[in-house]
Amino acid sequence: MANDLLKGKKGIIFGALNDQSIAWKTALQAHAQGAELVLTNAPVAMRMGEINHLSKLVGDAPVIPADATSVEDLTALFEGTMKHFGGKIDFVLHSIGMSPNVRKGRHYTDVNYNWLQTTLDVSAISLHKTLAVAKKMDALNDWGSVVALTYIAAQRIFPDYGDMADAKSLLESITRSFGYHYGVEKKVRVNTVSQSPTVTTAGSGVKGFDEFIAYSESMSPLGNADGLACADYCVSLFSDLSRFVTMQNLFHDGGFSNTGVSQEVISKFEPEA
Ligand SMILES: NC(=O)c1ccc[n+]([C@@H]2O[C@H](COP(=O)([O-])OP(=O)(O)OC[C@H]3O[C@@H](n4cnc5c(N)ncnc54)[C@H](O)[C@@H]3O)[C@@H](O)[C@H]2O)c1
Repeated sequence: MANDLLKGKKGIIFGALNDQSIAWKTALQAHAQGAELVLTNAPVAMRMGEINHLSKLVGDAPVIPADATSVEDLTALFEGTMKHFGGKIDFVLHSIGMSPNVRKGRHYTDVNYNWLQTTLDVSAISLHKTLAVAKKMDALNDWGSVVALTYIAAQRIFPDYGDMADAKSLLESITRSFGYHYGVEKKVRVNTVSQSPTVTTAGSGVKGFDEFIAYSESMSPLGNADGLACADYCVSLFSDLSRFVTMQNLFHDGGFSNTGVSQEVISKFEPEA
């Protein structure tokens, strides 16, 4: 379904690790809608080399490694991208998350505080750094669009999500605060998409993920939104059709966030006849 929604637009996609990644799918869908892309990921994530395969699928998009916690790397990324495009950038996907505490199974009440700093830096403050570098360099076009991915654990407790919940709360707060300033000055919009649980490398790192996906499926009137649907939603937010949407946390979750309980879940508690 290619409608040239992003024809003439140029964007940076952070976080395509492999073909399960939401960023990978977003790169494919944005390319199909006519966008030109630059791909980036942390230098350590390049070792697998899969991103080079993605590059070929999206018109030989340049791959510029950048650790999103490094202002120096981000500056080089924006410089390289503007040089490649011969001008400014229209959209950015921030699709980055990582918690050493969750990875190593540390309980939320007993986190390693150095690791917590890493969780917050990688998963949330990296958005602030990306926006700050872009703004200082005046790298984004007026009405540009920045989207970061988040999860409903920012609003409600999901015990196994650990300190990532705190990172997502901060990410959503940065979205509002930076979105205000960037909007006033440059009409750049900043939003988060709060996605259903999705089978990816980052997602599968959460304990009990398979059971949780099944629970979420049974609590969502439309079922869980998959990674491809998330990619399509991100494309709509990069497009001019959503140009007055900013500073929002947008649920893309099949209705999960507004469901108290579903009949399917209730029926599991009904006594057997
Ligand atoms: N999978 C889910 O269930 C789900 C649900 C809601 C939101 N999200 C969010 O979607 C985003 C993308 O995750 P995904 O599920 O596609 O998993 P993924 O593992 O494919 O992507 C995570 C990416 O973050 C990158 N990354 C980690 N540290 C980095 C650093 N220092 N600098 C630059 N990049 C770094 C990784 O290399 C990887 O590409 C994350 O923000 C995640 O929290 C995922």
